[in-house]
Amino acid sequence: KRPAGAPHGKLARPVSKVGVVGAGLMASQLALLFARQLKVPVVLTDIDQARVDKGVAYVHAEVDKMLAKRRLSPDAANRTKALVSGSVSKDVFADADFVIEAVFEELSVKKQVFAEVEAVVSPECILATNTSSLSVAEMAADLMHPERVVGFHFFNPVAAMPLLEVVRAPKTDDAVLATAFVLAKGLKKNAVLVQDAPAFVVNRILGRMFGEITAVFDEGTDPETADNALRPMGLPMTPFRLLALVGLPVGQHVQESLHAAFGDRFHVSANQQKLIDAGIKGLWEKQEDGSYAVPESVLALLD
Ligand code: 3HC
Repeated sequence: KRPAGAPHGKLARPVSKVGVVGAGLMASQLALLFARQLKVPVVLTDIDQARVDKGVAYVHAEVDKMLAKRRLSPDAANRTKALVSGSVSKDVFADADFVIEAVFEELSVKKQVFAEVEAVVSPECILATNTSSLSVAEMAADLMHPERVVGFHFFNPVAAMPLLEVVRAPKTDDAVLATAFVLAKGLKKNAVLVQDAPAFVVNRILGRMFGEITAVFDEGTDPETADNALRPMGLPMTPFRLLALVGLPVGQHVQESLHAAFGDRFHVSANQQKLIDAGIKGLWEKQEDGSYAVPESVLALLD
């Protein structure tokens, strides 16, 4: 059944090569997903060769884990690995039909990336953004073809989370939207159509939870105590573990976007900013027994 608001699949364009801008954790997870499920070549790019190599190595390591768990046959594992390659040059996107960016959450960076990609790709190529909270319309505003831009917002961990928010900006073309939904089906994700509003739907709701839990943190309750208090509530992950999974900088960007749009309903945490400034990306460290704990070094920063 066609998802609510999705244009007819007949409008969709074929996608036989995918580009991923960025080779960080989110981008690498996307490269793996597209190669594994769509079985098309995927090329990822980043600003230097070390980052590119790390992204490709992540894909190979995840494929090896799936092979070890017998989730992939040896043939499928080899094929998936062979489909993913990397480059420091965006020229490799020249024959791509769909390019998704998963770079730093800064509007100016994303605009620059899209301008560079548009200079290389064909007029039909779709540009997607995995932004968590920025305006898709603003990202597209200075392009020659803003109608080719769509939001394609995945959730962490990408392989395990079934939801995909497809974001329609005011100028997004119906053929682009239709392609996004056909791709989502191929990726085995449950796609929902959302409007181009700050943090879309899911992060806007999660932002209330993150705002309150980090306000409690700023008021003096340490993360371990807060998470332990919430443990019996039946959440799939306690709030600070989820924040660590998302990454403190990404979480902070979501809160800042929501605060800018809706004011004090969304708290931006001073303690979280302290941790980010100290280079800490997540709060919890996995212990030898598989449990998670907040390192003393992190708590010491908050004195
Ligand atoms: N990579 C790949 N697969 C993973 C994974 C990972 N990192 N972590 C878990 N999985 C898979 C497992 O392989 C397993 O698959 P199976 O059912 O086919 O065997 C399945 O997920 C369940 O895993 P487990 O049984 O090991 O563990 P849990 O039952 O604890 O589930 C979880 C793990 C699915 C991650 C669950 O804890 C969860 O749903 N957590 C909440 C995650 C969430 O809310 N994410 C959204 C964050 S917001 C966001 O990302 C938006 C951004 O813009 C900020």
